[in-house]
Amino acid sequence: MSTKLFPARIAGIGKGLPDNVITNTDLEKIVDTNDEWISSRSGIRERRVVSAEETGTSLATKASRDALEFAGINLEEIDLIICATSIPDNLYPSTACEIQRELGCNSAAAFDITAACSGLVYGLNVARSMIASGTYKNILLTSVDVHSRFLNWEDRSTCVLFGDGAGAMVVTRSEDEQNDILHVEMQADGARGEELKIPLSGKNCPLVTPNTLKDSYVQMNGREIYKFAVNTVPGSIRSAVEKAGVSLEEVDCFILHQANVRIIEAISDRLKINKEKFFVNLHKYGNTSAASIAIALTEAVNEGFIKSPSLLVLSGFGAGLTWGTAVVRWNGTPQE
Ligand code: ACO
Repeated sequence: MSTKLFPARIAGIGKGLPDNVITNTDLEKIVDTNDEWISSRSGIRERRVVSAEETGTSLATKASRDALEFAGINLEEIDLIICATSIPDNLYPSTACEIQRELGCNSAAAFDITAACSGLVYGLNVARSMIASGTYKNILLTSVDVHSRFLNWEDRSTCVLFGDGAGAMVVTRSEDEQNDILHVEMQADGARGEELKIPLSGKNCPLVTPNTLKDSYVQMNGREIYKFAVNTVPGSIRSAVEKAGVSLEEVDCFILHQANVRIIEAISDRLKINKEKFFVNLHKYGNTSAASIAIALTEAVNEGFIKSPSLLVLSGFGAGLTWGTAVVRWNGTPQE
């Protein structure tokens, strides 16, 4: 018995960023650091941080509205909202449910997935599988992380690297039978989870003390994460491209998780692919975790860096440890 698989495509994209800009020079007033160290080690020059009025939900809702408008899809047509986040506004309700409430997207199911900086790629795989199976037709895939809430602002080795932000995609069943999401692969290595974590220190105890969350901030072994990324991502990209039935040389643009420009350059060297094919915007936003690929894709399209049609590689890596790569055809039109 053969089962029909429905083709999927990315129909809309959007981003949501806080207005507050914190430059490297601003950080010099908070911790013992300087612009030269941060920009030469990471490529980051500034990042965005939420105000007291903003939340992960508000950023993701803005990104979602833009993506829906881009796709020309009404709220009533959305069947499912997925939110990739590792820093939800609350442990529950899920951020996806909060986005549903804000949008008034009442007929959609909603859930979060946690895969840190690989979350967008993991979410894209879940979305395309649900479309392929015929379960849903139109899925709003959002990704958001507000790291500023869980940074130790006295730890210069981590607080300079992250920023807040959100991205969104509308993933739909293709009407023309052409499948544009060619392949997505996901991997994980929980044995190395200690290298990058935000622990929740609560115990099975009836008394919640003020110290319950005292160690709940980003703890990272920067050198190990650097090695993990440059040793793992090239193989993931090669494997995904091969399974998609295309060659590395055919890929028009690589959008990698925007953690560190040195990581992106090392990966382009290992793949022997010209750096000019790698879109970079981390100098403006720092590491926005699950959101970075969707924000970068939105800017690359709207700035004309990605033309239509194009063959794209989207690749994420981060806490878990997790990593994953998607190979997709882009057939959208930039927004004014
Ligand atoms: N300003 C000034 N000096 C600093 C700072 C800072 N902000 N942070 C650390 N230093 C100092 C250290 O104390 C150390 O000083 P010492 O030699 O006197 O002990 C010195 O700089 C060198 O520190 P290293 O950690 O060895 O610096 P390195 O060259 O390895 O760069 C970095 C650090 C940028 C974190 C690098 O390891 C890296 O990029 N790792 C990957 C991190 C990453 O991308 N994480 C996120 C990916 S996953 C995700 O997105 C969730």
